[in-house]
Amino acid sequence: MLAVALLIHLSTATAYIWPSPQLDALEAARFDQTGHNAGRIAGFIQPCDTFFLGGLDSTGRSNVGDWLRTAYHDVATHNITDGTGGMDASIRFADEQKLFHTIQNVGDGIPNTIGLLFTVTGRYISMADSLALGPIIAIENCGGPEIAFRGGRVDAAEANPPGVPQPDQGLNAHIAAFARQGFTQTDMISLVACGHTFGGVQHEYFPDIVPELNDTTDTESVAHFDSTFVTFDNKLAMEYIADTTKDPLVVGFNLTTNSDRRIFSSDGNITMRSFAESSEKFKSTCARILALMFDTVPKGVELTDIITPLPVKPHNIQLMLDGDTLKLFGEVRFWNMTEDRARDVLLIWEDHLGSTHHATLSFAGLSTAVAERYTAAWYAFNQTAEIDFQALNPAAGITRMRFIVDGRVEDQGGLGFSVQDSVVFSNSSCATSQNPYTGHLDIGVRTGMPVARVYLEQQVNDDVQRVVIVETEVEPPMTTSHPYSIWSIDLRDANKFVLYTIGFELKDGTKFSTNDAHRLFDFPLCAI
Ligand code: HEM
Ligand SMILES: *[C@@H]1O[C@H](CO)[C@@H](O)[C@H](O)[C@H]1NC(C)=O
Ligand SMILES: *[C@@H]1O[C@H](CO)[C@@H](O)[C@H](O)[C@H]1NC(C)=O
Ligand SMILES: *[C@@H]1O[C@H](CO)[C@@H](O)[C@H](O)[C@H]1NC(C)=O
Ligand SMILES: *[C@@H]1O[C@H](CO)[C@@H](O)[C@H](O)[C@H]1NC(C)=O
Ligand SMILES: *[C@@H]1O[C@H](CO)[C@@H](O)[C@H](O)[C@H]1NC(C)=O
Ligand SMILES: *[C@@H]1O[C@H](CO)[C@@H](O)[C@H](O)[C@H]1NC(C)=O
Ligand SMILES: *[C@@H]1O[C@H](CO)[C@@H](O)[C@H](O)[C@H]1NC(C)=O
Repeated sequence: MLAVALLIHLSTATAYIWPSPQLDALEAARFDQTGHNAGRIAGFIQPCDTFFLGGLDSTGRSNVGDWLRTAYHDVATHNITDGTGGMDASIRFADEQKLFHTIQNVGDGIPNTIGLLFTVTGRYISMADSLALGPIIAIENCGGPEIAFRGGRVDAAEANPPGVPQPDQGLNAHIAAFARQGFTQTDMISLVACGHTFGGVQHEYFPDIVPELNDTTDTESVAHFDSTFVTFDNKLAMEYIADTTKDPLVVGFNLTTNSDRRIFSSDGNITMRSFAESSEKFKSTCARILALMFDTVPKGVELTDIITPLPVKPHNIQLMLDGDTLKLFGEVRFWNMTEDRARDVLLIWEDHLGSTHHATLSFAGLSTAVAERYTAAWYAFNQTAEIDFQALNPAAGITRMRFIVDGRVEDQGGLGFSVQDSVVFSNSSCATSQNPYTGHLDIGVRTGMPVARVYLEQQVNDDVQRVVIVETEVEPPMTTSHPYSIWSIDLRDANKFVLYTIGFELKDGTKFSTNDAHRLFDFPLCAI
């Protein structure tokens, strides 16, 4: 009994401590899939045959297929000997999308994927992370297993030499290509079987393999690998073993391009037979081997631990100075919890003056993840009879929070959830003109905090689309005031949509960023 309790404690202790901006963002992208505060990825695959390409809602194609293939093409550049290539989003460069001989490019699936997935990329989630996350969410929402996701991939600055195997290459060339990528022959069979359960081969890009199909339900003439081309299942293996497969890389009329046949039979069909006989075996193998595939990164890149859902997670906590009050906004998410109107959720917080306060939180919504296998309940810091969160005392501020849910204390094992109120936007900020936008941002810096510098942060893309943060120094005021001194910056020619966050650095060199992003547009015209 004791040993069991200890194990559970240890496994929860490895979860990260909130707040951690990168892990918080990765965790949200991974687990806030549909419903309240949902991220974008799941919306691109609901239902699983969703496909959009420049407004064209074509049949026969699917985002899920494109995403998984694009991720593999990115990985396929990896050279395990020198550690170059791998999941680094280098596939976004046109040079890498060019293939060896027969054809000029890999079709529209890859640019399509890149366009969609990069909408989730941001300051804390690289393009390569989103390229792994997209297919992971697609697989688990379209019938497949849950796949361990780690973050921290680093986006390449240039193309790698293309490394994608071609259907007209021989078995030995394929074994060698997968070995270079770090996979054994058995891994290769598994990876191809796990990949080719989605999608198929398009006539347009492989006219020598697939003829025009003249099928009004398959307008792009895609010869699917199996009969359930948007479901992640073992049908490909079942149909292959039963000899009823229509996989164009198995039963194509030209033996030269039947690469799936050569690969699948290369171990005497042992692997494919095991997949055909057991859906569980297929799914567990795919979960393991695809996680390895997504985690194939260039040498020197350090991935995070596997991202697991945080049981209790404050969300979008924001503070704003407003005259003699400090406004607090926020929500909290409780993982694996459904709606229950009778549940009591209490927020307890401590302040700089040593007092403790409490307030009841109100139910705000539900979210789901992993094909609705998990549900999370969200509660908001709304005004209640006990407390007006818009009118906290700035001198007291807020230092840390904990929650009480139906009598159970949630405080990250005693640490609490720390809240930084050292540097906050002030809503004395204003726009001096609106066309073009010029204005004045005021930032409150808590007196007595060891703040060395304050700067505005603006998220921009560099010339190879990577997100970078541009810092603009904010000057300290001549005089200190209590409890907050106001540091100010004048902005000219600001685009009204530009979002600013505030960054600050403490005297010991640690840097922080606020959660709340504001545009000049959000503030009123300055009083004259
Ligand atoms: C020897 C290895 C491989 C060869 C020769 C190969 C070949 C191909 C070809 C010719 C296509 C058709 C592409 C098109 O029509 O645009 C395709 C599609 C696809 N491949 Fe592979 N592939 C291999 C390995 C893999 C691996 C390891 C994965 C992932 C784990 C994968 C995932 C996919 C997916 C999901 C599609 C469907 C794309 C869609 O429908 O949009 N392939 N593959
Ligand atoms: C992989 O890297 C090694 C070491 O740099 C090199 O000798 C080898 O040619 C590379 N393989 C390929 C296929 O580029
Ligand atoms: C589809 O139509 C084209 C043009 O008429 C023809 O060449 C092709 O063979 C047809 N494909 C099939 C699968 O019947
Ligand atoms: C079969 O495919 C190979 C490689 O693409 C090509 O060179 C050959 O001409 C094809 N054979 C036939 C009969 O179409
Ligand atoms: C593998 O299975 C396929 C499909 O049933 C069959 O055509 C082929 O002969 C088998 N190959 C071996 C080596 O058993
Ligand atoms: C989710 O909650 C249910 C009921 O409260 C519990 O039985 C189950 O073990 C929980 N699952 C996880 C993964 O924590
Ligand atoms: C409660 O707070 C949430 C999030 O801060 C907000 O979206 C919602 O409108 C608020 N609801 C009420 C009733 O005030
Ligand atoms: C600050 O914000 C509140 C509510 O958002 C608003 O009522 C108030 O007028 C604002 N103060 C200024 C100076 O704009």
